[in-house]
Amino acid sequence: MNFANTLCLLFSTASALVLPQTTPNCTSFVTSVSLASLNATFLNATYYPTGSLNVSAILNTVPFCEVYASVSYGTGNDTLAFALWLPDTLQYEDRFMAVGNGGMAGTIKIGDMLTQLNSGMGFAVAGGNAGHLASANIDGPGLYLPYLHDAAQTSAWIHNAISLFTPAAKALTAAYYGKTARYAYYVGCSTGGVQGFALALYHSELFDGIVAGTPATWYSHLALSFLWNAQHTNSTASNLTQAILNFTTTAVLDACDTLDGLEDRLIENPLQCNFDIDSLACNGSYSSLSSNGTIECLTADQIEAAKAIYAGPTRSDNGSELYPGYSLGSEIEWLTQEGPLADALSIPLLQNLVYDDLSYDSSTFNWASDVADVDRKAGSFIDAISPDLSAFRKHGGKMIVTQGWADPTNPAIWPIEQFERIQDFFDGDVSDFFNLFMVPGGGHCGAAPYYPGVPGTYHTVPKLVQWVERGETPDELLSTSPLDGSTTTRKLCAWPATARYVSGDASDWDSYVCE
Ligand SMILES: *[C@@H]1O[C@H](CO)[C@@H](O)[C@H](O)[C@H]1NC(C)=O
Ligand SMILES: *[C@@H]1O[C@H](CO)[C@@H](O)[C@H](O)[C@H]1NC(C)=O
Ligand SMILES: *[C@@H]1O[C@H](CO)[C@@H](O)[C@H](O)[C@H]1NC(C)=O
Ligand SMILES: *[C@@H]1O[C@H](CO)[C@@H](O)[C@H](O)[C@H]1NC(C)=O
Ligand SMILES: *[C@@H]1O[C@H](CO)[C@@H](O)[C@H](O)[C@H]1NC(C)=O
Ligand SMILES: *[C@@H]1O[C@H](CO)[C@@H](O)[C@H](O)[C@H]1NC(C)=O
Ligand SMILES: *[C@@H]1O[C@H](CO)[C@@H](O)[C@H](O)[C@H]1NC(C)=O
Ligand SMILES: *[C@@H]1O[C@H](CO)[C@@H](O)[C@H](O)[C@H]1NC(C)=O
Ligand SMILES: *[C@@H]1O[C@H](CO)[C@@H](O)[C@H](O)[C@H]1NC(C)=O
Ligand SMILES: *[C@@H]1O[C@H](CO)[C@@H](O)[C@H](O)[C@H]1NC(C)=O
Ligand SMILES: *[C@@H]1O[C@H](CO)[C@@H](O)[C@H](O)[C@H]1NC(C)=O
Repeated sequence: MNFANTLCLLFSTASALVLPQTTPNCTSFVTSVSLASLNATFLNATYYPTGSLNVSAILNTVPFCEVYASVSYGTGNDTLAFALWLPDTLQYEDRFMAVGNGGMAGTIKIGDMLTQLNSGMGFAVAGGNAGHLASANIDGPGLYLPYLHDAAQTSAWIHNAISLFTPAAKALTAAYYGKTARYAYYVGCSTGGVQGFALALYHSELFDGIVAGTPATWYSHLALSFLWNAQHTNSTASNLTQAILNFTTTAVLDACDTLDGLEDRLIENPLQCNFDIDSLACNGSYSSLSSNGTIECLTADQIEAAKAIYAGPTRSDNGSELYPGYSLGSEIEWLTQEGPLADALSIPLLQNLVYDDLSYDSSTFNWASDVADVDRKAGSFIDAISPDLSAFRKHGGKMIVTQGWADPTNPAIWPIEQFERIQDFFDGDVSDFFNLFMVPGGGHCGAAPYYPGVPGTYHTVPKLVQWVERGETPDELLSTSPLDGSTTTRKLCAWPATARYVSGDASDWDSYVCE
């Protein structure tokens, strides 16, 4: 035997000793799972060595086996496709992770799957398409959205999106590693955040830990709020241009930035900001535009429009709240509230799901008598607002919720209202299983463009794992990676605590305390 062969033998013996167990064959293990009993069908499998998958310039740092399968549901003719990524045995740590969808769903979020695969936490990662194809989401006033005309497909969009594929994905995971995963986690944002609440409410046995980002769980009324905002800005006089929105946010920050003792063009807690938009009203000395074309005040119609967006929709008969409004400091990104979001979500929901009439004219919506139609025809299929999380709590489940204060898509107040409803339901403190983290200057599922210095990555999943597996309740979270590319970190606090700057470098999360 020559030297090279001896060396080769030594190495292979050594690596055989280090490996706890060989990784199974990616393409043949599937035959050992009874997929039919799970309503599932195998589609294909592909093995990816490290660095061989490139999603938006991010490569896989872990070698894995990808399995695609589908699940039949409804009357048996509806199909949900899912992907499952199984790391090599050496990188697997006995944890199952599912990721959710965004918007109208229809696609598997492989970028989010890659984040979890690469997290170093040893997850087998699954994600599905929520039971319909994105190609069916041709969206806008007057357009037919097929999945909103099929009750099973409508339910699969949010309520059952994750639960439909989880049993099959868990069974495949167990077959691959020869044992059931010890822990199951879920992470999703926006529509995915609502899917997270739906899991806790309706499928409480499936997951041990859930991260629900930006959860507009009163989805049907979020849609009403988009319509409300569009209707209140739908004229030349009430239209809020980008220049007006900029002027307003600047004035709000001038008034409230330093309430927390730190001048950083950021409002720590907008609830403590008593900004009065009437202070921006035009008068004899100030007309809307200065001679050089700069905005210097708001007309009465513009002020009324802004007040409608801050307040949110109310019933026209008795004034009760139908959804909260948007927070101080979020104005600069309100343009999408002035029609685009109503066109993309509210009007399609009313025409397809509520009234089943593509010619339905949303300007005829009656803000008292028609609300019940929305609740019955849409709410019961797509909302997840019950505060009764007792089954999930009894199961030992833990939940982390995040919400950006400057979110221009979901009013930041709604997750706080839901948190308070949950506290009321449980008669007090729920921090043993449920914590909400509000993000000052945070946007919709991450950084807001106007607050580029605010870290947009919230380190929720590692905290959730520590909570579930070691019982360490999270009272603060690290956030990193602002849009400006700086190394700024921030401390996020379990609501109602907020971060107070103590001393040292203001861009270091250790310079803050939660109180
Ligand atoms: C895995 O199994 C397939 C199908 O049985 C086979 O063709 C392939 O060679 C196997 N791959 C490895 C690496 O053993
Ligand atoms: C399979 O589908 C049937 C019929 O829709 C349903 O009753 C059953 O619960 C499903 N099984 C699983 C494991 O999801
Ligand atoms: C596996 O199936 C999925 C879902 O149908 C498809 O998108 C994907 O391209 C397939 N992959 C391969 C390698 O065939
Ligand atoms: C990954 O894909 C991007 C395009 O999305 C490309 O610019 C980049 O070079 C690729 N990286 C590697 C290592 O292949
Ligand atoms: C399901 O599909 C089969 C075959 O395409 C068809 O005959 C049947 O009517 C469908 N059932 C329903 C409820 O759509
Ligand atoms: C805005 O006004 C136009 C023209 O009157 C009307 O066609 C449209 O439906 C209105 N949009 C909303 C969201 O009310
Ligand atoms: C509002 O202003 C924008 C430009 O900022 C314009 O595109 C839009 O048509 C205007 N809408 C109304 C209802 O005047
Ligand atoms: C509004 O403010 C943003 C961010 O500072 C800036 O990029 C944009 O040009 C401003 N737009 C107008 C119309 O003033
Ligand atoms: C007039 O409006 C400007 C701009 O909104 C404001 O600063 C000023 O205080 C107002 N003056 C009076 C007398 O109301
Ligand atoms: C425009 O005029 C206002 C006062 O009327 C002044 O404060 C502002 O600096 C001017 N802006 C520019 C760009 O000249
Ligand atoms: C307003 O009316 C609705 C629907 O009848 C009812 O649920 C709500 O409690 C009422 N609110 C108030 C403040 O009267």
